[in-house]
Amino acid sequence: MTEHQIENLTAQYGSPLYVFDVQALHQRVALLRRSLPTGVGLCYAIKANPFLLRELCGQVERFEVCSPGEAAICRRLHIPAEAQVISGVYKTPADIERMIAHKNGPRLFTVESARQFTLLSQLSARYRVTIHVLLRLTSGSQFGLEEEEIIRIIRNRADHPFILIRGLQYFSGTQKASLKRLQRELDMLDNFACSLMEKLGFIVHELEFGPGFPVQYFSSESFDEAAFLSGFSAMLTGLRCKAHVTLELGRSIAASCGTYLTRVVDVKRNKGQNYAILDGGIHHLVYYGQRMAMQIPPYRLYPPRLGEAAPWNLCGSLCTVNDILVKQLPVPDLKCGDLFAFSSTGAYCMTEGISLFLSRALPRIVLLMPDGRSLLVRDALPTDEINSPAYERTDYHGTTACNSGGTSARRGLHHLPYADRFALSGFADYPCTGRRAGGGV
Ligand SMILES: Cc1ncc(COP(=O)(O)O)c(C=O)c1O
Repeated sequence: MTEHQIENLTAQYGSPLYVFDVQALHQRVALLRRSLPTGVGLCYAIKANPFLLRELCGQVERFEVCSPGEAAICRRLHIPAEAQVISGVYKTPADIERMIAHKNGPRLFTVESARQFTLLSQLSARYRVTIHVLLRLTSGSQFGLEEEEIIRIIRNRADHPFILIRGLQYFSGTQKASLKRLQRELDMLDNFACSLMEKLGFIVHELEFGPGFPVQYFSSESFDEAAFLSGFSAMLTGLRCKAHVTLELGRSIAASCGTYLTRVVDVKRNKGQNYAILDGGIHHLVYYGQRMAMQIPPYRLYPPRLGEAAPWNLCGSLCTVNDILVKQLPVPDLKCGDLFAFSSTGAYCMTEGISLFLSRALPRIVLLMPDGRSLLVRDALPTDEINSPAYERTDYHGTTACNSGGTSARRGLHHLPYADRFALSGFADYPCTGRRAGGGV
């Protein structure tokens, strides 16, 4: 984004503000495609940034959906069911049933446990719907299945006539910059896939692999991405099993398109230290790997300036000494009204903060479109309501009036956690009302 665009966007929408640059997003996907072997699919992990979902339609083959809330976002945005893989360590049974029962619902699911496999088998048989599954191999955490369990499921596959086991899924973590580690993981998966063929005559048609490609956030890190991607591509080309590979990616697709804008609203000097108070903070912005604000994330300061720098602690607006975005940042002549633009904030930065602490509002979100228009896709979102007790829902006997009204109560969802209830209640089903018109930038 240019200085002029940033000026216009903050004039129009104020701060704090997230801006996601759609052209930069598309360019990033194009770069990944150019760097990877032809035919490798891309699956976008929605959790990285749901606001990019529609902009990635047609850019990636698939979306990874991990919760009823993410499924609701997909419905709201009319993401085609055939472009979704329903994943997640807890697949809410009611939600999965609704998907399978729906004539045009998603048909590709991952399996993370024997219990999930049984659930999917029973539901697919009950509704006489064929579904496809990817069996997630564990990397030694709560996620996925042991090899022995996968072998058992595949050996007994004939007992589940409505389930087509398409292949394997594997994800072991994010920010993985070691090609050696990725090689070990791919070798292990390759050997396992080949052994399934040798032992059980089972062909792994598809390997959905989350490589956890890294993003360089801090000036202290060095990373040659071109060499990394070329090394990784060579590994994919060398696989013995001829499975179709789909890469499940979030961070590497989304990070570069995001900018978080926050303004200095107060400056002070306490006990020999310079403090700048920002109108944002750690409830809006979290960089993976930022250790006690000691690292310097990518940023620009507006208006730009030269001069002798002094060290500043950039603090947010929360009542905690932990609300520091950067410690001891050398800046010349910092003043109230100055604007910080933190970049590479398109993935996770926005959702991993302590959003509800202090009941401050969440920032506006704007998409900067390739034609220069800006679209306000989320207004500033107050959180005080979420943090307010709703006494009107409680009757005189002190019991919650779950059965006496409210959409979710009417639909008998009151036993569910609120977030899931909301997603399932049908609030999420309303059609997309389109984008708000925005001004040119
Ligand atoms: C199963 C799975 N796949 C893919 C991803 C995306 O990882 P990344 O953002 O590192 O690409 C995640 C992130 O947590 C995940 O849990």
